Amino acid sequence: MTSPLTFFQLPFLMVFFLFPLLISPAAAAATAATVAPKRHPHFQHINVTETIASTRIQQPSQTTSQETKIPTAAANSGQDKIKLNLLHRETTPFLQFQPSHDYRHRFSARMHRDATTVAYLTRRLNHSDRMAAKYEVEDLGADVVSGMEQGSGEYFVRIGVGSPPKDQYMVIDSGSDIVWVQCQPCRLCYRQSDPVFDPASSASFAGVSCSSTVCDRLQNTGCHSGRCRYEVQYGDGSYTKGTLAIETLTFGDVTVQNVAIGCGHTNRGLFVGASGLLGLGGGSMSFIGQMGGQTGGAFSYCLVSRGNTGSTGSLEFGRGSLPVGAAWVPLLRNSHAPSFYYIGLSGLGVGSVRVPIPEDSFKLTESGLGGVVMDTGTAVTRLPLRAYVAFRDAFVSQTQNLPRLSSGVSIFDTCYDLKEFVTVRVPTVSFYFTGGAILTLPARNFLIPVDGWGTFCFAFAPSSSELSIIGNIQQEGIQISVDGANGFVGFGPNVC
Ligand SMILES: *[C@@H]1O[C@H](CO)[C@@H](O)[C@H](O)[C@H]1NC(C)=O
Ligand SMILES: *[C@@H]1O[C@H](CO)[C@@H](O)[C@H](O)[C@H]1NC(C)=O
Repeated sequence: MTSPLTFFQLPFLMVFFLFPLLISPAAAAATAATVAPKRHPHFQHINVTETIASTRIQQPSQTTSQETKIPTAAANSGQDKIKLNLLHRETTPFLQFQPSHDYRHRFSARMHRDATTVAYLTRRLNHSDRMAAKYEVEDLGADVVSGMEQGSGEYFVRIGVGSPPKDQYMVIDSGSDIVWVQCQPCRLCYRQSDPVFDPASSASFAGVSCSSTVCDRLQNTGCHSGRCRYEVQYGDGSYTKGTLAIETLTFGDVTVQNVAIGCGHTNRGLFVGASGLLGLGGGSMSFIGQMGGQTGGAFSYCLVSRGNTGSTGSLEFGRGSLPVGAAWVPLLRNSHAPSFYYIGLSGLGVGSVRVPIPEDSFKLTESGLGGVVMDTGTAVTRLPLRAYVAFRDAFVSQTQNLPRLSSGVSIFDTCYDLKEFVTVRVPTVSFYFTGGAILTLPARNFLIPVDGWGTFCFAFAPSSSELSIIGNIQQEGIQISVDGANGFVGFGPNVC
């Protein structure tokens, strides 16, 4: 076989295993030690047989993890950081809360949630739309509510709330600015896997008065019997309302006192069994914002969801979590949307080709439109239509030897039937960042299985606006670090 559809060939196999991720740091932007720039390979291999097998993994039974295998915070190797295990929803014990369909159904449900999330983000980040700021529950259409039934949240951590600490699963979200848990007494609580937190049984719980400075920092504040109220609504129709409190949180063996958390007495949605949400956004009320002084606004995470390795991802806080040797890209702030982490993207590459896309396709304008957001809650990377079309066409033209389906699947328009193949050779896909860093994605981050029978799709989609979003499928397996104090986002150097 001499065509690009290579079957088992040793040299390619070695490339596949040795270089799952390649990063070129920009000479100018790198602040720490750097890795030597590497030549980028123009092709990678996907083990089709193995990838298809991984879609058929038996879901963990309810009994496996409940007692023994629930990963809590991992050991902390240094005092300047907190390290937690990060679980994808499909690897959590919450499966009992989800319909246990096959891979294709779960994948299609994930894409449905994704469309809902992106529609909401697009609207929220459309600053010419004044109504977007006033997002009311009544505004949500049927589509949005059906998204809610799927449950919010893609990635979870387990932390202790109160004193003595009660362990709770929390959704993490890079675009949210509040930490909250469902609280007793519940006026309305959705089903969660741990007992609902009861402030009466926590010695460290303290309410916040309406006149306190921390109450001032909240949007949507009001007073209820002298207590500071909070209210948050999410794109899928989920919401939480209650009172603000000061509480102690425990991350493994690290205790953090005086964290402002929402104590939610009225909560609607289905956070896949989690007790609440740990907001990691760039605003002052997120966990990152509140820890500002202690952690320097620094955190690092690694998302893992697929495969049968049994490995978990990780989430670390503190300057000690910032890796040496990452490729650092300037972090951009949008004053209209301080929660979000934007980065500068200048172009895209496929194989040896830099796709001809005008650089301003990815520009964040003065008025806060467009730009490129890093989001843990979005699965598939969205690109402005013209950029997407050029990018996809470049990929299609370099995969002429693969059998392409005549129609799309779900949100994807470029899919292939690979069931006859053991491995396939595909062109690499790269992000060219402002400042010169280049991130070449592992093949599993851009050609993904959409069913259990060998259909794979090019995992990008067009945006309905000028907004680009880098989604979690593209972020998977790459260590991503945010150095908020110095204004950089780091990629690599570790694969995970
Ligand atoms: C693909 O993965 C399977 C299962 O792990 C393995 O047995 C096989 O050797 C791999 N094939 C190639 C060509 O890498
Ligand atoms: C942004 O908001 C404006 C004003 O409401 C609207 O005309 C436009 O269609 C919106 N754009 C998108 C992409 O939703």
